[in-house]
Amino acid sequence: MRKIALLTSGGDAPGMNACIRAIVLTSLRYGLEVYGYRHGYNGLLEQEYLNLRAKNVLNIIQRGGTILNSARCLSFKSNDSAKTAAKNLDALGIEALLVIGGDGSFRGAKHLAKHWSGQVIGLPGTIDNDVDGTDATIGYYTAIETALDSIDKVRDTADAFERIFLIEVMGRHAGFIGLNAAIASAADHIMLPEISRSCEDELENLIAHIEAVKKRRGNSSYIVVIAENLWPEGVTKLAEILSQKTQIECRPVILGYVQRGGSPVSQDRVLATKLGAFAVEMALEGKTGVMVGEINQQLVCSELETSWQQKKPLDSYLVKIQQDLFDILKRP
Ligand code: ADP
Ligand code: F6P
Repeated sequence: MRKIALLTSGGDAPGMNACIRAIVLTSLRYGLEVYGYRHGYNGLLEQEYLNLRAKNVLNIIQRGGTILNSARCLSFKSNDSAKTAAKNLDALGIEALLVIGGDGSFRGAKHLAKHWSGQVIGLPGTIDNDVDGTDATIGYYTAIETALDSIDKVRDTADAFERIFLIEVMGRHAGFIGLNAAIASAADHIMLPEISRSCEDELENLIAHIEAVKKRRGNSSYIVVIAENLWPEGVTKLAEILSQKTQIECRPVILGYVQRGGSPVSQDRVLATKLGAFAVEMALEGKTGVMVGEINQQLVCSELETSWQQKKPLDSYLVKIQQDLFDILKRP
């Protein structure tokens, strides 16, 4: 193998740059030329690429975002696009393409592989951690820290005014950020897609809990961590309903995109570096159609399909103890 390429696709995540750096330096160490396509799959279609050298990845390990930019390239779903990408990759003499992204990006890689004879390898990069085949995805730990820092700050003002706060965290359709940020911030309640019931039941349960907690500890702050997309009318509406039903002031906070940015924490930098180096070595071994991951400190490869066919479960013990803690909060 002489030439390898990479791109970042889908939602950017802190640690993507650390991963780019590891891929570039490992490729150079093995004597490969390495190319970075810009703007996700758009770069493959537009032939927008850079020849990456060691100087391009100097001092990027600590930077959030991605120096290659990312994109959601909807047109890539068509066969014509995949054929164009294959033709462009062949024209540049690329033999393996490494894709850093989430399960959507891996669907894209698999789609490309139907029309291209080169190797494709995925590296899990998304704050949502919703990719099976790895204990954690690149960016996930940083997103938890960012959410936690904000929740701690909200707790201060919530305490001062003895208010209820609804804090919406990201996760698309997964509760990994929510569960971990809630445990670490001692939130009083949590609403996640994996454990939620119907909206009516959730609301009834939440109001009952708020009232029981109030009886026990009097007026106090009360923090609910809620996953995005969970309440159909949005958290602002839910806050209005709660204020009205409990007669306690309730405020919504949507953490949003701050969770995608910032300097990656050490776990994300180390994970990104390990997976980046490993992906290059797997490419050199001839692997294709796989995603690299880390499970119980072992570097592993799984079929790309696993990332979207298998739903990664939440840590059931964490879910259990979180629910036990809520229960204790309301006991007389
Ligand atoms: P993520 O990788 O973070 O899950 P998306 O789901 O938005 O993000 O996917 C990123 C990109 O991957 C899409 O914009 C598109 O370019 C490509 N992609 C997603 N699904 C497919 C598919 N079924 N076929 C081809 N390309 C896809
Ligand atoms: O994939 C990460 C994520 O941040 C999700 O949690 C969120 O739903 C989504 O991306 C929103 O991203 P965008 O607005 O860029 O499509």
